[in-house]
Amino acid sequence: MAQDIGPKRELLIELLIDKIPKELHIHIPHRWWFIGDVLITTIPEKLKQYRSAVGEAFLQLEPKRARTALGKTGPTRGITREPSFDYLAGDKNTETIHKELGCFFKLDAAKLTFSPGNHFERERMLNVVKSNEFIIDMFSCVGNLSLPLAVHKSPKQVIAAEINSLAFKYLEENIQLNKVSNVMKAIEGDNRVILKDYEGKADRVIAGYLHSDEEQIRQAVRLCNNNSIFHYHIAITRKKEKQADVMTDIKRLIESEGRICSRMIRKRVKKYAPGVEHIVLDIEID
Ligand SMILES: C[S@@+](CC[C@H](N)C(=O)[O-])C[C@H]1O[C@@H](n2cnc3c(N)ncnc32)[C@H](O)[C@@H]1O
Repeated sequence: MAQDIGPKRELLIELLIDKIPKELHIHIPHRWWFIGDVLITTIPEKLKQYRSAVGEAFLQLEPKRARTALGKTGPTRGITREPSFDYLAGDKNTETIHKELGCFFKLDAAKLTFSPGNHFERERMLNVVKSNEFIIDMFSCVGNLSLPLAVHKSPKQVIAAEINSLAFKYLEENIQLNKVSNVMKAIEGDNRVILKDYEGKADRVIAGYLHSDEEQIRQAVRLCNNNSIFHYHIAITRKKEKQADVMTDIKRLIESEGRICSRMIRKRVKKYAPGVEHIVLDIEID
């Protein structure tokens, strides 16, 4: 979860008072968040040369919570969504265990995505999933969306696909760490290829990746049984949503697979970029 400013930012400024010229104090970060004991912030261009000092100040500010400080330098990259972080201060080992929703997520915070902005979606999923479901997570990372379901929702089975071998390694570890290997199975590879055996089996399919291509959406529909829900995540500008009417397009695609879309609900997950929203469509497929 992102942490907000207030008195803590005042303290941070005090810690940096002799280290950064006064006219630059306005650029001292307003926001920081944690993945396990790794503190992450954004360092504005004007503070780049003071980044070690800022990192050290954060470690002093959060002595109990922060072992390492990282600075976000740009957007996540490529299909594996690797984050762009600069080391700021503290321990250079960025492997950590993030605790959230009663689960342990082990990961390398500098190399893998775990978005604080998706917290409410992870929590929401716990409220919509029922027990005894067959769930397929097409873009699992370290179990971000599906691990809590395995831990708390007594599923029939969770199948978690992941293409990035580092994320897959942690996904397998997290299944053990959270003692859910009886209900959750990780499969390494491209979800367009490796999930064929599960077509028609899923009560619920999660596509928690904002850049799914048509083949992946078709694969998701084929995984669905005749009374299922497909959680389709997408990044979209408000303007584009109006113009292209995403919901109509996805409905047509589902129908072209010989299936029926009986209901579709749109939920906002977070702001993704200026003017762009991360939304999720909960699509009932018969
Ligand atoms: C942005 S992360 C999403 C993690 C999680 N679903 C969430 O919402 O927090 C997307 C993950 O999908 C994986 N991925 C991308 N393309 C894939 C593919 N074709 N097959 C399986 N996994 C894929 C990436 O490696 C990455 O770990």
